[in-house]
Amino acid sequence: MSEISERLGRALLETVERDDPEPFIEAVRELEPDPEELERFLEALKIQREKGRVSEETVRVVEEVVEKAGGRRERGELPETDPLAEYAGVDRVLGTIMTGKEADVLLAEKRGRKVALKVYRAFTGREEKREERAYRTEDGEVVRRVERGDAALREFSRLKRAYEAGVRVPEPYDARPGVIVMEYIPGEPLYRAPDLEDPEAVLDDLVRQVERLAVKAELVHGDLSAFNVLVSDDEVPYIIDLSEAKGVKEPGAMELLRRDVENLVDFFNRKYDVSRDVDEVVERVRERVYGDR
Ligand SMILES: Nc1ncnc2c1ncn2[C@@H]1O[C@H](COP(=O)(O)OP(=O)(O)OP(=O)(O)O)[C@@H](O)[C@H]1O
Ligand SMILES: [Mg+2]
Repeated sequence: MSEISERLGRALLETVERDDPEPFIEAVRELEPDPEELERFLEALKIQREKGRVSEETVRVVEEVVEKAGGRRERGELPETDPLAEYAGVDRVLGTIMTGKEADVLLAEKRGRKVALKVYRAFTGREEKREERAYRTEDGEVVRRVERGDAALREFSRLKRAYEAGVRVPEPYDARPGVIVMEYIPGEPLYRAPDLEDPEAVLDDLVRQVERLAVKAELVHGDLSAFNVLVSDDEVPYIIDLSEAKGVKEPGAMELLRRDVENLVDFFNRKYDVSRDVDEVVERVRERVYGDR
């Protein structure tokens, strides 16, 4: 017998003992059993009535409750439980924002507030992505280490590091293996956002964000382009998608930084005829990261 049946059974016994419908009604409210299951218990209650162990009145009240619960379910009014929403700890999933390379991004609602869910598609609950990373130790030696762990949890912790360093990224709320819950940014990715009123200001802002990410959060984005910048409706740029981010002192990080800045500057150059000196940005970061040596 299932746990629900067992608990309903106990509630029914109590209802009979006290000749009071309340324990059974309470259990129905809490357990939301299937209509068929409810019918079975109603039949059992009626048998008790025939034996004179419970009053007509109690049975009538229970009958009413069972009828209502069954009817509500047939009309689809009982809340359907969505396993993804439940897993992610949100109230409900409202729709799909975008299906990306490795992940789907969904719009959801949590306590009356819109949130974005990034759901890694490959996630099955078991696999762990292994990733080899190289680190430079204090005395310049390069060590290699295999990083284990879930891609979503890793991106979440980088997002948190960036957010706490004051970089404009969506606020990270929560994560579990395979899923990130974060602030929803209404707007469009830069590559297809409507023409900017002040492209110079947006580019300068983005360069400042990239510098802060490197110096304060000690991260290089590694996949920055007009695809991974969201421009809000009031023209404020947010950096997203830290799935490829690397430590600022890892070998090759400065080259990644150069490529990130170049991608942005090229985009602004092509679309808005605005330019910035990429070398200058990279040198400024290098000095602040490694000190003048
Ligand atoms: N916080 C957010 N608020 C609103 N929209 C978002 C948010 N995060 C992502 N999006 C939308 O989802 C799209 C894909 O997101 P993202 O770049 O993080 O995933 P991805 O490219 O699939 O990631 P990956 O590079 O790991 O495969 C974005 O271009 C953007 O349109
Ligand atoms: Mg992306």
